[in-house]
Amino acid sequence: MENSYIISLDQGTTSSRALLVDKNGQIIQIEQEEFEQIYPKSGWVEHNPKQILESQLRVCHKLIESTKVDVKNISAIGITNQRETTIVWDADTGEPIYNAIVWQDKRTSEYCEVLKEKGFTKYIRENTGLVVDSYFSGTKIKWILDNVEGSKEKAQQGKLRFGTVDSWLIWNLTNGEQHVTDYTNASRTLLYNINTLSWDAKLLEELQIPRNMLPEVKPSSSIFGEYEIKGVKIPIASVLGDQQAALFGQACLKKGEAKNTYGTGCFLLMNTGKKPQYSNNGLLTTIAWGLEGKVTYALEGSIFIAGAAVQWLRDEMRLIESAKETQQIAEDLEGENPVYVVPAFAGLGAPYWDMYSKGAIFGLTRDTGSRHIIKATLDSLAYQTRDILDAMQADAGFNLKRLKVDGGAAANNYLMQFQSNLLNKEVVRPKSIESTALGAAYMAGITVGIWTQEDVLESKNVDQVFEPTFTKKQRKKMYKGWKKAVKRTMNWDN
Ligand code: G3P
Repeated sequence: MENSYIISLDQGTTSSRALLVDKNGQIIQIEQEEFEQIYPKSGWVEHNPKQILESQLRVCHKLIESTKVDVKNISAIGITNQRETTIVWDADTGEPIYNAIVWQDKRTSEYCEVLKEKGFTKYIRENTGLVVDSYFSGTKIKWILDNVEGSKEKAQQGKLRFGTVDSWLIWNLTNGEQHVTDYTNASRTLLYNINTLSWDAKLLEELQIPRNMLPEVKPSSSIFGEYEIKGVKIPIASVLGDQQAALFGQACLKKGEAKNTYGTGCFLLMNTGKKPQYSNNGLLTTIAWGLEGKVTYALEGSIFIAGAAVQWLRDEMRLIESAKETQQIAEDLEGENPVYVVPAFAGLGAPYWDMYSKGAIFGLTRDTGSRHIIKATLDSLAYQTRDILDAMQADAGFNLKRLKVDGGAAANNYLMQFQSNLLNKEVVRPKSIESTALGAAYMAGITVGIWTQEDVLESKNVDQVFEPTFTKKQRKKMYKGWKKAVKRTMNWDN
């Protein structure tokens, strides 16, 4: 085990990444490639599954070339992925029958209303831990079967396979030998019973999804198959949805510990221990991981648009050239910002769950400039996080002392300070904000016996702790403005 490495494959919403991690948990090298976002209609978001696969394979091989690592020294591969995104492919040819329908896609909103009218809300909550929303995979699979000619018949005949992105990657990495997923990804499909750890027959029947399309579900720490590189068979030794991987990577191994990842969206998860805890405040109950014969659960607040709002400033509004600039712009604009941006570009997730919200800017006056809008967009990430944290504390029945943060926008000092001010809590940023990829690497390392959970706990180094500086009055006033703004965007499109 002298020269032991893990490759972490991090397949996210906007890019595919591969990281080489050494046996001390240090990241040696990162390779990354962005891929196309396809918007066929308003509210629809797709990816080309082949582009997902090819970009993921390319960065993996580039990583091996650039680091010159001897493949014999790669002990395992860990996979972490954008969750819920739905791919259906032909079992014989391996060809996708439609593009990947991305988690942000809203095309099944109407059908979700039908499910609600049929009285499924309670059943879905109690059995899957989720809310009825187009976010999850189940209604997306149904849409594909309803809309791709001949697919229903093929599905009945057992000729189609469904997978979240992890499943699709593993199917291809193992040359079609393995059709598998893990507990965390299954728990995001709307079809998986998180109490019995099995596919839910009643929901499959309602959505008319044949059982034979679905992958085998394994604990996150398992051998999912082998990927052969240069004649060496490397075990795929972990799979976790990206947010659960970040929870593990942040070493939130004990009940009550929480992290917030600022990625395309923003996802706040709290470890709730060995039993599912149900929310009365619009949060999701989800599986955190399956490890060493035990299942750990989490409460989750999902924010659909976070870093994507900063991308919007760059790509659509063209107010900035790079996300990095936003920190200085926000810091230079002193005083309270009367402008609020509600980035409800994909409806609103937790705790509002309003598929019909649309984005809006409030509080404009004659002197409002781009700087105010840029700052308000950053602020919206912190306001949305406050919404979630309030809900989570109400569910948990105790107050969190501190919030661990990671993801790209956690590097923004202005945002982290504002976050701390708004929550009135310490915000703790680790030295490496690559928690997602590290989480998958740690889990794979545990599976193949090169690390233990203790090693994960010891690996955490703090980069900076942000302490709150706002007065109670300031905090209250600013948050009140946000709540008012959100209220006005709700149900806009219905
Ligand atoms: O649930 C969606 C989430 O998994 C996407 O994460 O990091 O690709 O924004 P990310």
